[in-house]
Amino acid sequence: MSIHIASTTAPVNIATLKYWGKRDADLNLPTNSSISVTLSQDDLRTLTSVATSESFNKDTLWINGKEESLDSKRTQDCLKDLRSLREEMEVNDKSLPRFSQWKLHIVSENNFPTAAGLASSAAGFAALVVAIAKLYQLPQSMSELSKIARKGSGSACRSLFGGYVAWEMGQLANGEDSMAVPVASMDEWPEMKAAILVVSDVKKDTPSTQGMQLTVHTSDLFKERINNVVPRRFEEMKTAIRNKNFKEFAELTMKDSNSFHATCLDSYPPIFYMNDTSKKIIRLIHSINEFFGEVIVAYTFDAGPNAVLYYLEKDEAKIFAFIYTLLKKVEGWANKYTEPEL
Ligand code: PMV
Repeated sequence: MSIHIASTTAPVNIATLKYWGKRDADLNLPTNSSISVTLSQDDLRTLTSVATSESFNKDTLWINGKEESLDSKRTQDCLKDLRSLREEMEVNDKSLPRFSQWKLHIVSENNFPTAAGLASSAAGFAALVVAIAKLYQLPQSMSELSKIARKGSGSACRSLFGGYVAWEMGQLANGEDSMAVPVASMDEWPEMKAAILVVSDVKKDTPSTQGMQLTVHTSDLFKERINNVVPRRFEEMKTAIRNKNFKEFAELTMKDSNSFHATCLDSYPPIFYMNDTSKKIIRLIHSINEFFGEVIVAYTFDAGPNAVLYYLEKDEAKIFAFIYTLLKKVEGWANKYTEPEL
C-alpha cells in the first residue's frame, strides 16, 4: 500500500474593491470585478496537507484537529473538478496511478481564529485546491485553478496569488472567464502593510451569500454601484497599484468599503456589519489623515465589524503612536506596544 502526500499554504486576502453580489449563486459568478491584497504567509494563512491511497475508504477532512463534513455542495464541486482534471491525465497516460478514483484525507490548520470573520474560507478553499492540484500534479495555471477555488468561496480565487490580485468577473454564463489574475507582485510595492483591528471575534450575523442575495434583490443603490461605480474604480485601482500611488489607492479603498456597506444598509431589511466601534475607527482614520495633512492610512471592512488598515511601512510608527494614545486603556494593547512620542 502506498500513500501519496502534498502540502501547501494559502494566505488570507482582504478586498480593497469589494465583491458583493452573485449573478450565478451555483457557480459563484460575481456581479462585479474585485481587487484584493494577499497578506503575508507569515501572518494569516491556512496550511493544508492532502493524502491519497487506494486503501482509504472515504474522503475525510480535519480542520484545526476536528473532523468536519465534506458534504457541502461547494466542497464537492471543488473535489469533482479536481478529480476530473486528474482523470483526463490518467486517460492520456495509462502509467499514472489512478488517484482520481481514490479517496482523500485532508488536514487543514489555520494560524488564526476561524470564526473571527477574517476571511478564513478564502484561505481554506485556496489551500484545498492548490494542495490537491499539487498531489495530482495538474498542469493548469493558477488562474485556471482559481476558477475551481471560486466555486468553493468566491473570494478564495484571489488567495491563489500573492500580492495585488484582481478577480475578473467575466461575461460567460459557464464561468470559464471568471478568474483571478495578478495585478502586481508584493515585490513591486513591498512597502504596503496591513494591520487588523479585531473589534469582535463573534461569528458574523448574516452569512455573505445570504447577505449578497438580499442586496442584489432589494437594493437600488446596488445597481448604481455595479453599473457605474465599480467598473471605473476597478481600472483606477489597478492603475494606482501599478503606479504605487498610495493616496489614490487608499481613497478608493475607503470609498469602496463605504459604498459596499451603504448597499448593505440599503438592503431590505437592512444588513449591519459594522458596529459602533467600527464607526469610531472610521472617524479615527480620517482624523489621523487630517492631522498629518495627507492620506497615510486607509480602512476597509468586510462582512463583519473588524477593520483592516492599509498603510506604508514608513508611516507605521506615527499611525500607531496616534492609535496607541487612544487605545492604551484597552486591555492587552499596553503590553504589546510601548508608548511612542507623537
Ligand atoms: O467569498 P465570500 O462569499 O466569503 O464573500 C466575500 C465578501 C467580502 O469579503 C465582503 C468581499 C470580498 O471581496 O472579499
